[in-house]
Amino acid sequence: MKRIPNTFGIEARAMHYLEYASEEELKELIASGKIVPPYLHVGTGSNLLFTADYPGTILHSRITGITVIAEDEQTVTLRVGAGITWDDFVLHCVKLGWYGAENLSLIPGEVGAAAVQNIGAYGVEAKDLIVAVETVNIHGQQRTYVTDECRYAYRESLFKQPEMKSLFVTRVNFRLSKQPCYKLDYGTIRQELERFAEVNLKNVREAIIRIRESKLPDPKVTGNAGSFFMNPIVPRRQLERLQERYPSMPYYEVDADRVKIPAGWMIDRCGWKGKALGRAAVHDKQALVLVNRGGATAADIIALSDAIRASVKAEFGIAIYPEVNFI
Ligand code: EPU
Repeated sequence: MKRIPNTFGIEARAMHYLEYASEEELKELIASGKIVPPYLHVGTGSNLLFTADYPGTILHSRITGITVIAEDEQTVTLRVGAGITWDDFVLHCVKLGWYGAENLSLIPGEVGAAAVQNIGAYGVEAKDLIVAVETVNIHGQQRTYVTDECRYAYRESLFKQPEMKSLFVTRVNFRLSKQPCYKLDYGTIRQELERFAEVNLKNVREAIIRIRESKLPDPKVTGNAGSFFMNPIVPRRQLERLQERYPSMPYYEVDADRVKIPAGWMIDRCGWKGKALGRAAVHDKQALVLVNRGGATAADIIALSDAIRASVKAEFGIAIYPEVNFI
């Protein structure tokens, strides 16, 4: 029984744990019958909450490599191994002067999981950079999905659908810009950049890192899985009604009829910031993040999550749902 890596620091073990470093090795594992069902493919477990030991096989990619597969005056297209640490990929792009990924600096996890979860921060989502996702399925068949086939939405993709759990992402193809194309309008990015002499790729990355470090706990120090809940998308009419009671309620535009409301703001308003329930707590600098105060079980985290969801529902009439995947 191998301990399953997860940033929440929850004790969970897998009956079998298998890693592979190439498509060929993965296909050999499949052909050998070593992948005992049920099976689950993981990255670094930065968005997972294990509620029990895993009775089957946990798979993890060690496919690495970043290669340029196309290039012109304006753009560069890269083929990136699913097992590469996401932030190593971002750093690589910043060092080589390729624009687009810098707002996603310091997000935990690996490249493959980023394409499954469509990670996002500071006005950019992984899907904005992805051109194709290479996969191998449990029968050993390879297939590449172009972005339009991936059904990307907010923290959502084709690869999260239950019927797609037998599909493993092996490499992701990204297109980045060789010309500056900063996205600086989200939150406090511009304010943070004022501390730097000039706006350049390295400084934008540094500003994003500083903003993140000021709000989000380092999983190496305090167990957590980033935002625990998704920001709910609600009809604009509902926002207008709520604004009568809460004129300062922040929101983001989604489309003509819908807006996204920061769940962290609502949880904060309900008084949860810094509060604990047993060994689980709400982070004291960002109410959207739940933390393990040491020795928390999945049950502790779920009890806290349920209590928070109930109070947000009671106060705002809005249901919020975990972004973290319960296993
Ligand atoms: N807010 C509060 N109190 C809090 C937390 C937030 O009032 O305790 C307010 C903030 O002042 C701000 C608004 O809520 O007006 C939004 O807060 P923030 O910019 O920190 O972002 P978020 O909506 O809470 C989302 C993502 C994060 C991402 C940030 C920045 C989700 C579920 N979360 O958080 O992603 O880093 O935006 O783009 O969409 C993650 O998914 O794990 C993650 C960390």
